[in-house]
Amino acid sequence: MRDILETLESRREQARLGGGQARIDKQHQKGKLTARERLELLLDEGSFEEYDMYVTHRCTDFGMEQTKIPGDGVVTGWGTINGRMVYVFSQDFTVFGGSLSETQAQKICKIMDMAVRNGAPVIGLNDSGGARIQEGVASLAGYADVFKRNVKASGVIPQISVIMGPCAGGAVYSPAMTDFIFMVEDSSYMFVTGPDVVKTVTNEEVTQEELGGAKTHTSKSSVADGAFENDVVALANIRRFMDFLPANAREKAPVRPSFDDPERIEMSLDTLVPDNPNMPYDMRELVTKLADEGDFFEVQKDFAGNILTGFIRLEGRSVGVVANQPMVLAGCLDIDSSRKAGRFVRFCDGFNIPILTLVDVPGFLPGTAQEFGGIIKHGAKLLFAYSEATVPMVTVITRKAYGGAYDVMASKHIGADINYAWPSAEIAVMGAKGATEIIHRGKSAEEIAERTKEYEDRFANPFVAAERGFVDEVIMPHSTRKRVCRAFAALGDKIVEQPFRKHDNIPL
Ligand code: HXC
Repeated sequence: MRDILETLESRREQARLGGGQARIDKQHQKGKLTARERLELLLDEGSFEEYDMYVTHRCTDFGMEQTKIPGDGVVTGWGTINGRMVYVFSQDFTVFGGSLSETQAQKICKIMDMAVRNGAPVIGLNDSGGARIQEGVASLAGYADVFKRNVKASGVIPQISVIMGPCAGGAVYSPAMTDFIFMVEDSSYMFVTGPDVVKTVTNEEVTQEELGGAKTHTSKSSVADGAFENDVVALANIRRFMDFLPANAREKAPVRPSFDDPERIEMSLDTLVPDNPNMPYDMRELVTKLADEGDFFEVQKDFAGNILTGFIRLEGRSVGVVANQPMVLAGCLDIDSSRKAGRFVRFCDGFNIPILTLVDVPGFLPGTAQEFGGIIKHGAKLLFAYSEATVPMVTVITRKAYGGAYDVMASKHIGADINYAWPSAEIAVMGAKGATEIIHRGKSAEEIAERTKEYEDRFANPFVAAERGFVDEVIMPHSTRKRVCRAFAALGDKIVEQPFRKHDNIPL
């Protein structure tokens, strides 16, 4: 018996060593942790339950039968994050560069199936040279099996991808179909075709980092939702992030103990909006002042800065925040911000996370670039996302809510439950000057100025909307946290009946 136990121990030891000490050292030299070290940081101590540790590939081409490494380049199983179960796979770059073989794909598919059956999120730590070159089409088939599962799991359980090394070719499409992608600065990259192919086909000279590094994907392409400076910081933040999410679409996000008084008054909010309506102010300040303990987990921070998206807690409960940011492009809606916020709203709605919308929007961004780029369709994504959402929704208009953008930004008409406005709110078809110039075309400058003043007095306030019940109450800025907390508390058991359909047809 002792021999058998020793055999088990030695086989485990061998598997834990992956591609061997030399390759582990190489991984460390690049500033990267190994697949197992990453899981240790991601999961609660001692909680990792590993599966398929002894799986090896079945390839016999190119002398591969001589090199079989237990685990076959991916570590899979489940563990807990702050006590809550998650399924994980962590690609091991020390084994054939973490490349995906037929058997590696089977390991990943196995834990994805378990995750869907048991209603727990999947977190994938990606660090791979792509398809296992020696296996050819068997590897491509493996990718497709993973892709299909990504789609089946979409909207059922949260799927999170962390890119911690290479992720190239068709391999990018599995992360692309998950809910959130986070990257590690300077050591991860994603692209469909690498710099060499780009040079051959388009004659463009571009580095790996420029083409698909964290900066590119968080600020230009919006493929990634956030980036962190190294593996350790990234994994700590994924732990923090997972606390905002429910385990699956049937559950609510966990309630975390909060020591922040829901009735907390913030007198500084009374002077947040400047007297001059053309002056910007930082909407992020309002978000953090409303949040429990000022904790705001922002997603897509470096993309489309004219809208903020992210998670806060109110009375310990997760809330998704969408907020126009007057500091960037005056907070107007454009293609990028509509896409960014539309996807975020859909995630929150899919996973029972209530939505708080903070509105200061002068309208849609005008211009040929926007029209030729399809702002009509992209703007419709956000409108569609809000209109189909059935989670509790609370809206606060702090200043401007003009034109179509007023309707889009979680107005009462498209399904928000409680709509508040600050006394500084201006809810109208358009700004006073523009409106007056149209209504009184051809009049003298003095007359236009006079009429503009009249229009402002009549429309640049929240009361016209409040008189119609489109705004439920005009509230004091300093009491916003209290009002919003009470509103969400009252909406906890909201139920919306839906007619049958196979699925909707959001304008893609
Ligand atoms: C098998 C691979 C591999 C792969 C790397 N390795 N990629 N083995 N299949 N795809 C092995 C290497 O042979 C090496 O083995 C070890 O992993 C580490 O690789 P290095 O090249 O030494 O590392 P590094 O210098 O860091 O370069 C990493 C890399 C490079 C940029 C990822 O390895 C690379 O270009 N690999 C090929 C990438 C590729 O073309 N993949 C196929 C893409 S097509 P040893 O034994 O020396 O340690 C694709 C299609 C997916 O993925 C389609 C889905 C639908």
